[in-house]
Amino acid sequence: MIRKIGILTSGGDSPGMNAAIRAVTRCALGNGIEVYGIQDGYRGLVEDRMRPFKKGDVSDILSRGGTILGSARLPEFKDEAVQDKACAILKQREIDALVVIGGDGSYRGAKSLTDKGINCIGLPGTIDNDIPGTDQTIGFDTALHTVVEAVDKLRDTSSSHHRCSVVEVMGNHCGDLAVYSGLSCGAEIVVSPETGYDEEDILDRLRYLDNLGKNHAIVVISEKICDVEALARKISASTGFSGRATVLGHIQRGGSPTPNDRVLASLMGEKAVDLLVAGVGGHCVGIKENEIVSFAIDEALAMPKSSRKHLYRLFDRLV
Ligand code: ADP
Ligand code: F6P
Repeated sequence: MIRKIGILTSGGDSPGMNAAIRAVTRCALGNGIEVYGIQDGYRGLVEDRMRPFKKGDVSDILSRGGTILGSARLPEFKDEAVQDKACAILKQREIDALVVIGGDGSYRGAKSLTDKGINCIGLPGTIDNDIPGTDQTIGFDTALHTVVEAVDKLRDTSSSHHRCSVVEVMGNHCGDLAVYSGLSCGAEIVVSPETGYDEEDILDRLRYLDNLGKNHAIVVISEKICDVEALARKISASTGFSGRATVLGHIQRGGSPTPNDRVLASLMGEKAVDLLVAGVGGHCVGIKENEIVSFAIDEALAMPKSSRKHLYRLFDRLV
């Protein structure tokens, strides 16, 4: 029987984390469970920084980006001694269980705590959409909207100046933000970890488009693939377009969550509480084929990521 739970956000923040905090808090309180909001992820946990949450503490946060709890990275949380300290603090406060909102790294921390006797449930909070066990993560939809809005604007100015805009998007080794935004914006080229990087091929394609008479081009490229400023210079030097690079950066992490992210986060928050009430720990929540589901964290992290081949195929057909 669960009497008190903690909730924390960990790793990179994402729009919709607040909606998840609100849903977990309100569903738990509705079940007669006390809730503690833990500041700054695992760092705040091992420093014993937390406070009780009442219904009003999560009012007016549904539409706000970021996380009211703050987020942090604590690499030392991989050490058992640090995890033991976290467990001791939770036990001393009589907190029986934890909801951890974050990415796969945060899930690993949640699994370790569960193995040490504190049931934890992970919720997928990241704009990268790179977590196995779910078709969509909390924040991806909002970040995609942000990218699409930016690329649409870049298209306006690029087409006025016969330019090629090279737009770097986040994703941390996952190409979903790139391919979904490429499809949404009608980009000319998408480069991601899934496509690989072939500079000559990109330049050839741009020369071909220029010869066809196109007055602009958009290249959406995932971060951590190449130096986009250098690529833009090469485009200027060896195609008919003048190249300009735009790194969208952390703008993609902010902003009011879309309705889709708010609803997804609320459904997942509800599921986390239901699992804990049922005595389940060491699970993470996902959405698969429109159903809210959960998997053991180990099982989820071992799952292959869903193939995006059909999206790249469609992109090639439409371009
Ligand atoms: P994300 O959760 O978004 O993947 P990180 O990989 O930075 O982000 O992980 C967030 C935090 O989770 C880390 O700073 C650390 O505190 C904790 N963490 C990451 N990996 C592990 C691990 N293997 N064991 C325990 N805790 C971990
Ligand atoms: O995981 C979310 C993310 O925004 C990635 O897309 C990006 O690679 C990374 O975090 C940036 O991390 P930081 O905020 O520490 O610069």
